[in-house]
Amino acid sequence: MRPRIYFHEVVTRDGFQIEPEFVPTDQKIALVNALSECGFAKIEVTSFTSARAIPALRDADEVMGRIARVRGVEYTVLVPNLRGAERALEARADELNIVMSTSETHNLANLRMSREQSFAGLREVIWLAQGHAAINVSLSTCFGCPMEGTVAQEEVIRWADRFAELGVRGLTICDTTGMAHPGQVARMSQVLLSRYSQLQLTLHFHNTRGMGLANVLAAVQEGVVCFDASLGGLGGCPYAPGASGNICSEDAIHMLDAMGYDTGIDLPRLFALARALPELVGHQVPGQVAKAGRIQDLHPPPSALVAQVAA
Ligand code: COA
Ligand code: ZN
Repeated sequence: MRPRIYFHEVVTRDGFQIEPEFVPTDQKIALVNALSECGFAKIEVTSFTSARAIPALRDADEVMGRIARVRGVEYTVLVPNLRGAERALEARADELNIVMSTSETHNLANLRMSREQSFAGLREVIWLAQGHAAINVSLSTCFGCPMEGTVAQEEVIRWADRFAELGVRGLTICDTTGMAHPGQVARMSQVLLSRYSQLQLTLHFHNTRGMGLANVLAAVQEGVVCFDASLGGLGGCPYAPGASGNICSEDAIHMLDAMGYDTGIDLPRLFALARALPELVGHQVPGQVAKAGRIQDLHPPPSALVAQVAA
């Protein structure tokens, strides 16, 4: 049996949150509905953040209310505080992806709270959601902060431990601005897998420095099986200086598929969505494979060569 890897699609949240042009609500809904048919384990639909902080996702309630849910796909939303949790529960999200940063400076810039204030609020969110929705915690800047620099692995573990004690179902370790390298990812993966074997563990990489797929591979080789990824490689945190796109879903899935992993994803269907994305957002996107074609999509040889061989 081929080893299974699970993908969580984040384009309509991490991708669209940083787009300069507002993606119309109907188009967001249509994209989530189309992604629901591709085989993703989870789709991060939107975020319940303040409309002033993230104007691109100010239509979160309507988007969550109007998507068509497909059995077997979990619909998750990013939640920074209690107000966001109330909205997410009202919208019947399957999972609340609560978020804070392991860097004090990034947490202050992004969420306008100290880490302790975030933690206190998120602890209340966990209590509020009990019996209504699953909780995943996403910890930002775990491989480095663009303002503070190095974030010690012990600091990441300290925050992850505090959430694990509160009974969260899942833990996502995020490389918010693509500072992770494969050696660091391998070490982090070993520690996380042995320490949190009872949690659903996900890694979230950005390709800011071209190390995204190398980091995925390093984590897979250590035994990590869940990854966040974004169609076309869109994405980035508007409050992290220098942020750029997530690892590209179709590139990562194509790579693992070629290596013999089972991703459960309908690649041709996903490619069609990736190829429609530049028109939707009004610019080129970073993803490579949708432009180049899959490795099995061959080109005809030049006609002169064909004639020569035939002669
Ligand atoms: N959803 C909707 N509105 C919210 C909200 C939420 N989750 N949280 C706060 N608000 C509203 C408040 O009701 C208040 O509205 P008012 O001015 O009409 O009274 C206003 O926003 C300010 O509230 P306050 O609690 O002072 O929040 P803040 O301005 O300090 O912002 C956050 C704190 C966390 C809400 C904001 O920084 C945020 O949403 N950040 C998310 C950043 C993000 O998503 N980054 C990318 C992903 S990592
Ligand atoms: Zn991200």
